Amino acid sequence: MENKMESHISKKLVLGIETSCDETSAAIVRSDGTILSNLVLSQLSEHEAFGGVVPEIAARAHLDHLDRLIRGALEGAEVDFHDLSAVAATCGPGLIGGVMVGMMAGKAIASAHKLPFIAVNHLEGHVLTPRLTDKIEFPYLVLLVSGGHTQILVADGVGQYRRLGTTLDDALGECFDKSAKLMGLGYPGGPNLEKMADQCADGQAAIRRFPLPRPMLGREECDFSFSGLKTAVRNHVEKLPSGDLSPQDIADLAYAFQMTVGEILKDRCARSIEEFFRIYPQSSHFAAKPAKLVVCGGVAANKHIRDVLQGLTKTAKMDFIAPPLELCSDNGAMIAWVGVEKLALGELDGLDVAARPRWPLDPNAEKKIGAGVKA
Ligand code: KG4
Ligand code: ZN
Repeated sequence: MENKMESHISKKLVLGIETSCDETSAAIVRSDGTILSNLVLSQLSEHEAFGGVVPEIAARAHLDHLDRLIRGALEGAEVDFHDLSAVAATCGPGLIGGVMVGMMAGKAIASAHKLPFIAVNHLEGHVLTPRLTDKIEFPYLVLLVSGGHTQILVADGVGQYRRLGTTLDDALGECFDKSAKLMGLGYPGGPNLEKMADQCADGQAAIRRFPLPRPMLGREECDFSFSGLKTAVRNHVEKLPSGDLSPQDIADLAYAFQMTVGEILKDRCARSIEEFFRIYPQSSHFAAKPAKLVVCGGVAANKHIRDVLQGLTKTAKMDFIAPPLELCSDNGAMIAWVGVEKLALGELDGLDVAARPRWPLDPNAEKKIGAGVKA
C-alpha cells in the first residue's frame, strides 16, 4: 500500500517558470526530484552592449521566448499540459516587468488547464535547490550569493527561514560585475573575472601589488559589505597608467579581488556557523548527522569560493553542499522544485496572487539601512 502511494506521489509533475532577471527558463520536475527538462535561455547578448541588465529589454525578451521554452520543456519531458499536477512561477523578487511575464503565463496555463498555481519566491528556489539535487533534510545553513542578493540564512523548513546576515550595500555578484567592468571585462563580470584570476602567474605578488580592504571582517553580526571593495578596485585602476589595462594588470587585480572575497566569505560564514550551532547545538538530537552548509546563487559557480567554503566546513566538521553549476544560476527547475515542495504541503495560491518586486525570505529579519531590496 505504502509503495503504491509512493509511486503515485512520485508521478506528480510540476512546470516551473523563471523570468525574474535575464534568464528565461521553463522546466518540468517530477516530485521524486527527477528533472525531466530544464530549458534556460540566457539574454546575455541582448544586454552585453549596455554592460548590465536593462529591465525593459529583459521583459520584452521573456515575452518573445517564454511560450516556445514552455513548449520545449513539455516536449523534452515527453509530456503534455494534462500530465501536469501544478504550475509554479516566480512571482518575485526581481525585475517586475519580467516577473509579470512569467507569472501571467503561469496563471494562464493553470487557468486553461484547471491546474493549481504556486507563486514562488525566486530566492526560495535557490535555497531549496540542494533538497532537489542532494535530498538534504532541514535544518541547514545557506549562503545565498547572487547578482541581486547576498544573505546567510538558516533554513528550518519550507517557507521557514531565519536571516542571520545580509549585505548592507552591494550584492556579491554585483560587486563582481562592477569590479570586472572597472577592469574592462565584459558582462557578466563574475565568470570573466574568475577566468582572468586563473591567468595570474604570481598570486603573492598580485596581492602585494593590489592590497584590498576586507569590510566587516571580525564583526559580531553576520552581515556583509562589498561597496568599499569595489571602490578600492576603482582606485587601483585609476592609479594605473591610462588606457587599457595590460592582461597582467587585469589578471593580478582579478586574483587579488577573488582572494579578498574568499577571506571575507570565510570570516562571515565562520561567524554564521557559530550562530547556527547556537540555534541548533551540536549536542542536540540532530547532531547525529553532520550539520550542513549550502552555497547557492549564481556566484556559487566560483571555484575559489567553493574551495574556501569546503575548507571551512571541513574544519567545522560540517557537510558542504554546492549544487551543480547549471543549477546555481537562475533556472526553471529550482522554481518547479519549490512547486513540488509546496504542492506536497498543500500550499497553493489563488490566481489573484500579486507579483512582489520585494519579497524577503525572512519577513521578521531586522531592516538594514542600505540593503533595500537585497535584504
Ligand atoms: O543567481 P544568478 O544567476 O542571478 C541572480 O538572481 O542574480 O546570479 C548571477 C550573478 C552575476 O552577478 C554573475 O556575475 C555571478 O552570479 N556569477 C559569478 C560566477 N558565475 C556567475 N560570480 C563569480 N564567479 C563566477 N564564476
Ligand atoms: Zn537568482
